Amino acid sequence: MKSEQCVSFLQWALPQLRMRWPGFRRVRKQVCKRLDRRLRDLNMESVDEYRAYLESHAEEWQTLDSLCRITISRFHRDKEVFRYLTREVLPSLIVGARERGDTALRIWSAGCASGEEPYTLAIMWAVELQDRYPEMTIDIVATDADPVMLRRAREARYEFGTLKDLPETWRHRAFTREDDTYQLKPEYARVIAFLEQDIRQQQPEGRFDLVLCRNLVFTYFDDSLQLELSGRIVDVMHDGAAFVLGTHEQLPEGAQQLSPWFADQRIYRKVSNIDSDPAETGH
Ligand SMILES: C[S@@+](CC[C@H](N)C(=O)[O-])C[C@H]1O[C@@H](n2cnc3c(N)ncnc32)[C@H](O)[C@@H]1O
Repeated sequence: MKSEQCVSFLQWALPQLRMRWPGFRRVRKQVCKRLDRRLRDLNMESVDEYRAYLESHAEEWQTLDSLCRITISRFHRDKEVFRYLTREVLPSLIVGARERGDTALRIWSAGCASGEEPYTLAIMWAVELQDRYPEMTIDIVATDADPVMLRRAREARYEFGTLKDLPETWRHRAFTREDDTYQLKPEYARVIAFLEQDIRQQQPEGRFDLVLCRNLVFTYFDDSLQLELSGRIVDVMHDGAAFVLGTHEQLPEGAQQLSPWFADQRIYRKVSNIDSDPAETGH
């Protein structure tokens, strides 16, 4: 399929999945390649044929939805964010957790791909913070809709390219090298529960001190779905909890109870209902 045909198909189909084309512009090749494969499996010659098929086979929309999952990630992505988490955010969240009498910080990594983000947090905690807060532990819930990504996350074996942004000392400490791959040591996986969840249908149980939802909802989903999901995410956060977006992302207009904490790093803090002012989200 020609690139223009794929683009015009996506511009037609994405809004019907409550997704937005601009989010896919840069990464469309990944989706177009999968679409080509799907057309071949269905013995179809053209994307127009596939479009007609979608119109008469409602269940195919679900397959198309899964073809639109962008799965790119890497360890220590946007490293400044992790620097702020280490130096400012987690120490402050620990104060709040202690006041509540909690001995574990609860973290949700939403759209965790093959584990790069939650494992970075687990390594960061062990290397930088655990000794300073010996009475505290972390408890990470990492969710993704894609079972293949989750299988890879549980295997925790990576190529160097995915790890290259990790400080060398962290890499040495947390991985054992096996030929050309790096295997995470099991102690860094113990603090993480991986769950298959579609964030549009489900959020993990309980309340969280820190939620990271980067390069998923606020890039690929349309404005009304972003607003809906930002509300549901806020509902599972403690007052004062931190919320982290991707560095190229913005909260949707009208998002409630989130106030910029470290705005350049897209780190927000949950304010209580009474103090909430949607204007504070930066719009
Ligand atoms: C681009 S990756 C981002 C990974 C990581 N958060 C980061 O910033 O590096 C997006 C991830 O979200 C997952 N995903 C896509 N749609 C989802 C959904 N509806 N619910 C949960 N996860 C989803 C994809 O499978 C993929 O692993």
